[in-house]
Amino acid sequence: MYPSSHSLTSLTDRSGLLLGADYNPEQWPADTWPEDIRLMQEAGINLVTVGVFSWALLEPREGARNFDWLDRILDLLHQGGIRVCLATPTASPPAWLGHEYPETLPVDTEGRTLWYGARNQFNPSSAKYRNAAGAITESLARRYAGHPAVAMWHVGNELGQVSYDDETALAFRAWLTRRYATLEGLNSAWGTSFWSQNYGSWDEVLPPRKAPYLINPSQTLDFQRFTSDQLLSLYCAERDIIRRYDTATPVTTNLMGFFRGADYFAFAREMDVVANDWYTDPADPDSHRSGSLTHDLCRGLSGGSPWLLIESATSGVNWREHNVPKQPGELRVDALSAVARGADGVCFFQFRQSRFGAERFHSAVVPLAGEHTRVFREVADLGRDLQALRHLAGTPCTAKIAVLFDWNSWWAAESPDTPTNRLQVLDQLQAYYAPLHRSGLAVEVVHPSADLGRFELVLAPSLFLLAQEHADALDAYVRGGGHLVVGPFSAVADSNGHLACRRFPGVLADLLGVDGEEWVPLGSPVEVRMGEAPAGHARIWAEDLALNTGTAEAVAHFGEGRLEGRPAVVRNQTGAGHSWYVGADLAPEALEQVLADALESAGIPYPLAAPLPDAVEAASRGGHLFLLNHSCAPQEVLLGWASVDLLTGATHGAQLTLPPFGALVLKEPGLKEPVPKEPVPKELPPTEHSNLQNDRNRGTA
Ligand code: GAL
Repeated sequence: MYPSSHSLTSLTDRSGLLLGADYNPEQWPADTWPEDIRLMQEAGINLVTVGVFSWALLEPREGARNFDWLDRILDLLHQGGIRVCLATPTASPPAWLGHEYPETLPVDTEGRTLWYGARNQFNPSSAKYRNAAGAITESLARRYAGHPAVAMWHVGNELGQVSYDDETALAFRAWLTRRYATLEGLNSAWGTSFWSQNYGSWDEVLPPRKAPYLINPSQTLDFQRFTSDQLLSLYCAERDIIRRYDTATPVTTNLMGFFRGADYFAFAREMDVVANDWYTDPADPDSHRSGSLTHDLCRGLSGGSPWLLIESATSGVNWREHNVPKQPGELRVDALSAVARGADGVCFFQFRQSRFGAERFHSAVVPLAGEHTRVFREVADLGRDLQALRHLAGTPCTAKIAVLFDWNSWWAAESPDTPTNRLQVLDQLQAYYAPLHRSGLAVEVVHPSADLGRFELVLAPSLFLLAQEHADALDAYVRGGGHLVVGPFSAVADSNGHLACRRFPGVLADLLGVDGEEWVPLGSPVEVRMGEAPAGHARIWAEDLALNTGTAEAVAHFGEGRLEGRPAVVRNQTGAGHSWYVGADLAPEALEQVLADALESAGIPYPLAAPLPDAVEAASRGGHLFLLNHSCAPQEVLLGWASVDLLTGATHGAQLTLPPFGALVLKEPGLKEPVPKEPVPKELPPTEHSNLQNDRNRGTA
């Protein structure tokens, strides 16, 4: 066990909620640095991530070291009361590494090398890369462990690389040998009797490189697991080096939310602080809901503990096709959404907008136009809001509803050989999440192995791959009085990706009271009925289901076509609990009804007097309800109780109007006055010298 200082509390105890930024001083002359620090203080920034992309500067030639600039900037930051999240620079190797050692460069499925000139050009399995990354990490750790500015360590950046080269093939074989021990084991797990794929020697086994036709799905699944493990081992290797020199300071890396390339439940187990990058898309009116879901994943990853939004944008990004800026007020509601969902801090990429390089047009805390700008003022206002909310640091968000999610299942489900590629895992997740979000119901996204006993209702929108032990846990949960809703095309495959030779949904069929015979991807929409009432259409997917037990009942059925009269949704009772199996991609209203039934049965009350308008988000944390308007139009909310806003002290009635991009943090009824912590001094005094992760996979996997 690591000491308790390995968590965000070691930072928030002193500063309250964190406001931070990526700070890349190496892009600017040293005489701007004092000015940078003045602006950080003015904005209320108390944490900066330094050094993420500075490898070539730190190590200009192999083995050389240049730390003068970093010494100076860390000292300046410390004197200015700004704490540092010190990054290892290993996401962007210097040109000399790729030039001298091309084996450090990644190779794609077609054998093409990805060259330097951008970033992320490393092969996670290259021993040379690993040694070089380890050496620079060690130099940094040795030099800066115990530096009073260093409050957190940041390993690499958005670990997500993948390579299909020969050195990777060797590492993959070693990984497979550990998993299967023998070639017979491998052949059986991969089902190589199909298409004459039998392996007679380990040397024949390859990563899933470009091939003439569909690649073995079990091979692809294992390669995804292997790649995820390689990335995690890079993280762990650097973390362990840091630990040799600094046993006290938390270590993290920046995750990318629902990033397909790595299993973040495995990552989170190794991270002291769950830190995530989330970039709202201001052009997408639903982006705030995706953000909420991602934040609820972060809370699930951190086991309910506070986490950190370590990157976000103050306005537009530069990597979408068309980069709409945030509207006035939007950065504030985006930031408060993360805080409402358990973040103890919000950081921006980056502090000063770059003049050159591939992110010239990306927004920043300090735009090219300087401090007298809307964006800078809004960041400073946010800094004041976060101080007003500082006593919320460390407080929990309690959810009675779990949404199950598993990277292994995601990898397996979206194999090109399945009956449709339109039933996407994340779409399913969002479909089940949206009605709960509209009602302001709290949700935590957890792994199927989580302790389900603390939830009243468990949703499994898409668990294509389900291990027997997880099915057993769901069975025990329902028998013990739990409520479970399972989405379509679930429990289809085992952990090798092999299908169950039985009626579906395989290992869940008995629990759910369902006998499934045929999956039916739809050529045209099919009406669904609940009782006699029309309940919209299934558009992509239907299943030919029957009831397999006397306790099961069809709560919806197909209203036309060859499945007319057959169950579309089956409700069952097992032991003291209830389950629902949804055998179609229901229309949103129909799915909402199924979930309403499950909520009622689970005894979960709606927190608000009426559902929220689409653009409004409600989330409760530490006895306060955050109401956030994510649109540029005023929005009416029927709350049902009057309260006081923590940000302004104003009283609001049971029915209220949120102004455009308005935010309220309302004391919930029955809340005792919070005990305020010591007020924060305006400028934090220097401390004593002590030993103190969508669509975001650009250029990665
Ligand atoms: C993140 C990355 C940052 C920066 C940012 C721009 O993915 O970690 O270094 O590139 O995107 O949005």
